[in-house]
Amino acid sequence: MEVFSTIVDVRHALREERRRGRSVAFVPTMGYLHEGHVALMREGRKRANILVVSIFVNPTQFGPSEDLDAYPRDLESDLAKCRGVGAHVVFPPTPAEMYQGTPRTTVTVEGLTQGLCGRSRPTHFQGVTTVVTKLFNIVQPDVAIFGEKDYQQLAVLRQMARDLNTPVEIIGAPTVREPDGLAMSSRNAYLSPDQRQQATVLIRSLRQVHALVAQGEQDVGVLDREVRGLLDQEPDARLDYLSFVHPDTLEPVDTVSAPTRVAMAVFLGPTRLIDNILVTPGAP
Ligand code: PAF
Repeated sequence: MEVFSTIVDVRHALREERRRGRSVAFVPTMGYLHEGHVALMREGRKRANILVVSIFVNPTQFGPSEDLDAYPRDLESDLAKCRGVGAHVVFPPTPAEMYQGTPRTTVTVEGLTQGLCGRSRPTHFQGVTTVVTKLFNIVQPDVAIFGEKDYQQLAVLRQMARDLNTPVEIIGAPTVREPDGLAMSSRNAYLSPDQRQQATVLIRSLRQVHALVAQGEQDVGVLDREVRGLLDQEPDARLDYLSFVHPDTLEPVDTVSAPTRVAMAVFLGPTRLIDNILVTPGAP
């Protein structure tokens, strides 16, 4: 495994691999890697000859009062995990390397970025789409793998790659969960033991929606009230949003009469966690 922190070096190494006819899979991350990232990396290993992983806590996707400085970082442990999975190239650039000079160009995906997380994080997706475009231009992968836990991000990046004719196949990988169902996230590290227990309210809520839809409930108002009832029982939990949306357009629906993505964000104290599932009427 080779570690390159400069754009010139990573480009040079990958040009050589491509010249030898090798395909490239790419897993962009913000580090503090957990089993969810490991699953993305394993998927990457299966899909191409060379696996590239970037580790970059991207400042432009954090709002002014968000957790950029506190975001957990542990490069040594991350490199060990990348090595364990058999990554070939790791790219952990500095912010100065990624944002040289005074950038005046951003990438914006309209519409899809306005609802769900975009409502409370209005600048977030522009930061994501801009940095992922830059990373795609640096790595030039054949495939890139993103987790379904960040479902809106996945939908936005798919749209972006389509709109910009970026020659990359975007793969969505299923959410990896702790044994009690909590979706793995680097931000779980912020939770106190008590908040960690309460955090299962996200998956409990989503599973309750799933069960009610399987029993025939289609009214989003009824499902919404049920989830709020569960959240009311957790003293540190505050709902940011609960949305029922079309899986591709992310347009809100009033009735679960077709496959629907149910997505939510919940604050546990200061920590904001997200999760989502697909529900399909009539499916067990
Ligand atoms: O999902 C993440 O970790 C980040 O949003 C990403 C895609 C690496 C861009 O910084």
